[in-house]
Amino acid sequence: MADTAARYDFVIAANRLPVDRVVGEDGQVEWHRSPGGLVTAMESVMSGRDGVWVGWAGEPGEAPEPFDEAGMRLHPVPLSEDEIQGYYEGFSNDTLWPIYHDVIVPAQFHRKWWHQYREVNERFAKTLAEVAEEGATVWVHDYQLQLVPAFLRQLRPDLRIGWFDHIPFPPVELFGQLPWRQGILEGLLGADFLGFQRPGDAENFLRACRRYLGMTVKGDVIHVGKATGGHDVRAAAVPISVDFSSMDELSRRPEIKKRAKEIRESLGNPSALLLGIDRLDYTKGIRHRLKAYEELLKDGSLDGADTTFIQIATPSRERIDAYIDLREHVEGAVGRINGNYSAIGSPAMEYLHQGYGREELAALFLAADVMVVTPLRDGMNLVAKEYISCRHDNGGALLLSEFTGAAEELREAFMVNPHDVIGLKRTIMDAINSSPQERSRRMKALRRRVRRNDVQHWASAFLDALEAAPHKPSRHGPQ
Ligand code: ADP
Ligand code: F6P
Repeated sequence: MADTAARYDFVIAANRLPVDRVVGEDGQVEWHRSPGGLVTAMESVMSGRDGVWVGWAGEPGEAPEPFDEAGMRLHPVPLSEDEIQGYYEGFSNDTLWPIYHDVIVPAQFHRKWWHQYREVNERFAKTLAEVAEEGATVWVHDYQLQLVPAFLRQLRPDLRIGWFDHIPFPPVELFGQLPWRQGILEGLLGADFLGFQRPGDAENFLRACRRYLGMTVKGDVIHVGKATGGHDVRAAAVPISVDFSSMDELSRRPEIKKRAKEIRESLGNPSALLLGIDRLDYTKGIRHRLKAYEELLKDGSLDGADTTFIQIATPSRERIDAYIDLREHVEGAVGRINGNYSAIGSPAMEYLHQGYGREELAALFLAADVMVVTPLRDGMNLVAKEYISCRHDNGGALLLSEFTGAAEELREAFMVNPHDVIGLKRTIMDAINSSPQERSRRMKALRRRVRRNDVQHWASAFLDALEAAPHKPSRHGPQ
């Protein structure tokens, strides 16, 4: 049933709904969980609240009617095939994504993509204006929807509008490359509160407002001139997290522990089991970790018949050239490593280009001796926090890139610069050879931190800051 008249006090908007519509070979419609950290985090937040989630259902064409799924009210926004190419694959993921991730691959600039980005953002804003109750709180998410706050403020000045950036916000030197930098900043400044993963991201944003809009910034508050709204906007860090208690509980279940044991046995019970779980994205540093692993096998530091590296690489953005190239490179490296270093029944690498349920991921986390997280740049990296949440045995070692948002908090991890292949190799060996006492000491400290700063704490901190903006909230406040 359509609910065109329904209005909500709490509305979130993200490019994607938490589920994608997939039509099976038999013509049956199935809803599959969407990939990525945003969905993981917001599913937990929405499960305890009344409200509606506005987003794209993952297929071209007309949007399905609003519906309920997994205890959430979902309101689809349509995207045509041309818009998927221009707004989503193009401007969001081939222009903004590289610029916001240190230009690891070159960014593509196309005026048509920018127009499509504007149009889709305006469509989201119109939908939000229709479903939001008078005075409602609207929480907009991520880089795909940076123009929504200003479009929405124009339509509905009564709303409380927040935006959260799940990815890094680039330094002005990189942000400044965007021909549409002013439009993006003005779009964001329609919000009352802007949340970022790290203090450095918020500072980059404030600096960009000064440099490219000539705005007055006092502390973390920007005064927006009359022409663009005439209000004050606060920008601060509110680092995202995971649902610690549910991952912890899941990993304690007997069937998960049994599955973890089975996974190790099926690989010939290696002395060392390494694990990577990422979307197949060039920001994740998968090539760098495979290079280090291959060299360790080659120089004899590791024995491929007694060590296994499981790399789960979730399919992602599969029509974009940079992702196609990455897949070819990674799959070539995996084939080479296995060909050269595996033994029958004891693979040096296990590579899986598939999505998995939470149970299987928890079992993998519990099975792995070393969790290898080597992004070249990452807003947060929830996988690192999920690993910690599942290690109720205080076992396992987390190897973590210093270029993740998570590295700001997870100081007791084995830190690496993934560009430094010698340092990466040394740290992999240190993590593998660390004593149970050292692992336990590090893991206990990491678990204390993630338990305290879980996803509910993050959501409360964000919503308190939004309610109090432009002032700092008295509780839960972001630093
Ligand atoms: P990103 O948002 O860039 O994808 P994060 O590490 O922050 O990176 O979040 C990824 C989320 O997706 C995590 O919750 C992780 O458990 C989940 N995930 C990653 N790979 C898979 C997979 N193959 N199957 C199911 N969930 C996955
Ligand atoms: O924040 C990271 C992010 O881009 C989310 O916005 C997104 O949901 C996730 O990664 C997965 O990417 P995509 O929606 O392009 O598959």
